[in-house]
Amino acid sequence: MKILAVIGSPRNNGNTYEAVKLIEDELNIKNPGIEFEYVQLGSANLKPCKGCFTCIERGEEKCPLKDGRETLEFKMQQADGVIFASPVYTYNVSWIMKNFLDRFAYRCHRPDFHGKKAMVVVSTGAVGLGFVAALLSLSLGTMGFITCAKLGVTFPPAHERNDTRLKKEMNKLVRKTEMFYERLLDTKPEKPSFIKLLQFVKQKRAYSKAPKDLADFKFWRDKGWLAETTDYYYEVRAGKMIKLLVYIISKLTRCAG
Ligand SMILES: Cc1cc2nc3c(=O)[nH]c(=O)nc-3n(C[C@H](O)[C@H](O)[C@H](O)COP(=O)(O)O)c2cc1C
Repeated sequence: MKILAVIGSPRNNGNTYEAVKLIEDELNIKNPGIEFEYVQLGSANLKPCKGCFTCIERGEEKCPLKDGRETLEFKMQQADGVIFASPVYTYNVSWIMKNFLDRFAYRCHRPDFHGKKAMVVVSTGAVGLGFVAALLSLSLGTMGFITCAKLGVTFPPAHERNDTRLKKEMNKLVRKTEMFYERLLDTKPEKPSFIKLLQFVKQKRAYSKAPKDLADFKFWRDKGWLAETTDYYYEVRAGKMIKLLVYIISKLTRCAG
């Protein structure tokens, strides 16, 4: 089993890395055969997104930035599970984690990580764990990742640290790692939520009307997702009532937001 850890802290061996290292130790106890690989975005060859829209409109292979993006995507595709970790910097993910998300924004249009299990790890000094983990998980979910566990780790200032707090944090880490590992072992295709079914229908409608030379149109067409009978990225058994409800709500929310 291969696990890739994408560490989004500019401090390569900072708190975020430290938390993920503990997760690696826990996973190794469960399965010593696990292959673990780290990508430290702080020193990865990933240039800042220029916002030129080339990847979205014409295809990621046309991106003018020649760097390690393609290799990183390949590593994510090859992994059985990916840990995405970021510190809370000013109530948000770090800028390098945000740049990583922007560089893979085309995957929100052309999701290609379906069924890929993810764990989201956020480290903080005090606040922001919940919504930063939710933000990260939302973007990854649009790319197709399934967040199996969200872990928030607090690294308080030295004078606030004590054994009870440390033990509590460690127990949480062990519990969330276990949750992630159990989901990694479960190979059944994920049953999509109502929101995910709705997202599929809305994207399908948008891309079926897109110009035929647009990368999104070509990708969705080639995947067979624009076919009338396709309800989701992969075969699902959604009931007729659910399908009807998804259809109605997708129509009603056409102009919303
Ligand atoms: C620029 C910057 C902004 C930060 N913003 C917050 C914040 O909004 N809330 C918070 O509780 N901690 C904040 N922190 C503390 C970090 O979240 C915390 O120390 C984290 O564990 C650092 O992880 P790292 O060593 O991997 O970078 C901030 C730290 C830095 C350097």
